[in-house]
This record gives sequence, structure tokens and C-alpha cells, in this order.
Amino acid sequence: MKKFAVLGYGTVGSGVVQLFHKNRAQIEEKAGSKMELAYILDLREFPDSPYADKFVKSIDAILADKEITVVAECMGGIEPAFSYLKQCLQHEISVVTSNKELIAQKGAELLAEAKAHSCNCFFEASVGGAIPIIRPLHRCLAANNISAIYGILNGTTNYILNKMLTDGMRFEEALEKAQKHGYAEREPSADVDGHDACRKICILSSLAFGKHVYPESVYTEGIRNISLEDAAAADELDGAVKLIASVTKLENGKILPAVMPMFVPHENLISRVDGVFNCVEVCGDAIDRAYFTGRGAGKMPTASAVMGDVIEAAKHHKTVFSQFWVDAGTQDFIAGIDELESGLFIRFEAAQDVETLQAKLSEILNEIGHENAALDVIENACVIPDKLNSQERKEILEKLNSIGIKPAHWMPVMDA
Ligand code: HSE
Repeated sequence: MKKFAVLGYGTVGSGVVQLFHKNRAQIEEKAGSKMELAYILDLREFPDSPYADKFVKSIDAILADKEITVVAECMGGIEPAFSYLKQCLQHEISVVTSNKELIAQKGAELLAEAKAHSCNCFFEASVGGAIPIIRPLHRCLAANNISAIYGILNGTTNYILNKMLTDGMRFEEALEKAQKHGYAEREPSADVDGHDACRKICILSSLAFGKHVYPESVYTEGIRNISLEDAAAADELDGAVKLIASVTKLENGKILPAVMPMFVPHENLISRVDGVFNCVEVCGDAIDRAYFTGRGAGKMPTASAVMGDVIEAAKHHKTVFSQFWVDAGTQDFIAGIDELESGLFIRFEAAQDVETLQAKLSEILNEIGHENAALDVIENACVIPDKLNSQERKEILEKLNSIGIKPAHWMPVMDA
């Protein structure tokens, strides 16, 4: 018999409890032993719940039970989640968490604590909701030299961008719908301003490159400045505007993590991942590229990832997985956004004559040494897929401005 506990009975925690009871027989078969949900920690009262007898208000009740092998934390936030998980590990209880904020800030510390106490710290649900990405990245793709990871890592913003384009829905209305579906964070700016995606790319970057990447070191821009006009122009130029969280390995050995809206050409699968779905593209020297996609938020998809980790932790109790990274003591292995090389999408303030625009842009590209660069132009926008450095992007925008072709908004172009 393997006993486990759930911390937090909100959207995800209640989903974990529900999923365990729904699929208990097969979960126990996969875990290789009987399992019992022994405790649910929550400060609120749930007298009418069928699990009312499981509720406790203090972590001490769980720590005192020597038969607990796994604790699944679904509370969110740094404290008290961090202290609780640390105490669990010190009591040789493996921990599972869906808490991206916690892992992005305290991952190295929790992983070290887990190692010191021969336990596991699993966090599959912290990135990509239902999508298996943590374990595949760490284990199945372990033989690769990872050169880049790109992803739609926030379901709420992807849902909003999609609703704006397909239904002409206002930003606020789309956000409200995402909240009703249980996708959005308690504080909407965590989604809309890119902080949630930032935490997730920190986790993937730390895992792929072995050193803890802290959110403060990552250039982060959300979707507040994206207009319907941007979305429509991108669509006309055979692409889509997506909030992309990425990390690339640069030639100088540094890594460049970032979160920002990008123009994604339709040739890339990511451009066609809509609604609450997330998608992660992993580029490695042996695999070329691999895509992982699925529901990135919501009660049951996230519960699926948590429960998968609980099964894994229960099954491998006392076997420590090497899923690990360290705090390097510095963040100087991280490049700034000025080192980003990318193509350029520009939307203009006013409609232009397409032939004139094409000619002027070609002239400017010639002047900066990008002769015969490919160019896709419509009346109010253009895409230059050639990789440009930040100085070149700046020059193009300034030169256009100086000849009266005023850029209203620009964003980097993702590789096809
Ligand atoms: N608010 C998050 C999202 C929830 O929209 O993706 C899942 O982490």
C-alpha cells in the first residue's frame, strides 16, 4: 500500500482527487501496488465533500504519518508551499508539484534537498499542463545537444489571441472566458504580461542546460500591445501572432531565454496550435526537432500530469532520478535580448502602395548588407525572414520612419 496526500483543494488539487478516484484501479495497476489518498490539506471547510474525512489543516498531520510516500502540492505560490515541500523531503517523502512559480524560483534548492534525502521532486504539471515534456526532455532526449526550445507555454494568452482573431472578441471578454474555464491565474497579469510563460521557460531552460535560470534574468513581454490589426496582418502574411517562450544556445556559449509575441510562419506547426493548447518544439543535434502538444491548462489535463508523477514517485520510492540542475551562483551564462537574431514583422500605421513599399524595403535591406533578402509585403505590413541582429532591426525601423513609412508595431519572426 502506498499512501499519498494532496496539498490544496483548488482547481488542480480537486482534479487530482477526482481523477484518482475515477481511475483508481488502473492507477494502482500502473503503480504496482494499492494506493490510498490519505489526506487533503486545505484551510477551508468542505463538509459536503465525499472526501470530508480526509481534510486536515496542518502539514504536521501528514509529516507525522510514516506511511506517506508522496505529497502532491497544488496550492500555488511560493509560501507556504516551499516550506511544506522542504519539510516533506526532510521526512523522506517524495514531492510532486504543479507549481511553476515555486520550481522557477526554488527548483535548485528543492532538487538538492530531494537528492540529499534520497527522494524525488517531480514537476511534470508545472510546464505545458497535460503535455509530457519534463520527463521526455530529461530522459528520452538526454542524448541530444539541445540547441533551442520554443513554445506556446501559456494557455490563457493563446486562447485570448485565438478568440480575438477568430471571433473578433475583445481582449477583456476573452480573458473572462479563459478565467471561467479555469485556465487563468488568480492574478491575470501573470498570464497577460508573460510571467507565467517566463516561469515555464525558466524550468525548461534549467532542465535542458543544467543551471538554474531565474525569472528576473529573462526578457519578458506579454500580449497587451497586440492588436486585432496585428493578428489580421499576420494571418494575411501566412502566419500567426503567438506568445512564444524560447531559449536558444548562442555561439558564444551563452543561452538566451525570452518571452515575447512573435510572428510564427504557417510552415511551423506552432502557428497552428490554437485555443488553450500549448506546444513545445525541442531542437537537438540528433533529433533535428520534436514537437509536443496538448492542453496546457485546465483542471483535468493538469491533474493528469500531477497524477502521473504521483504514480512514478510511488512506484520508484527511494530510487532517485537524476532530473537535476544547480544554482550556478551567477546568471552570467544568460544573454540579453540585444543578442537576439531574428527576422522582422512590421505593421505600418497607414496602408502603403505595395510596389513602392517592396522597392523601399529592398533598398534599405541592400544598404544594410542584406542584398536579395526574401520579403513578403502586403498593404499594411511586411515580413523579412532573414536573420537580423538588433542593430539591423533598429536601422530598418528608423529608415522606414525617416521616409514617412511609419511602423506601428514590430515583432521578431520565428524560424519556419
Ligand atoms: N494560467 C496558466 C495557463 C495555467 O494559462 O497556461 C497553466 O499553467
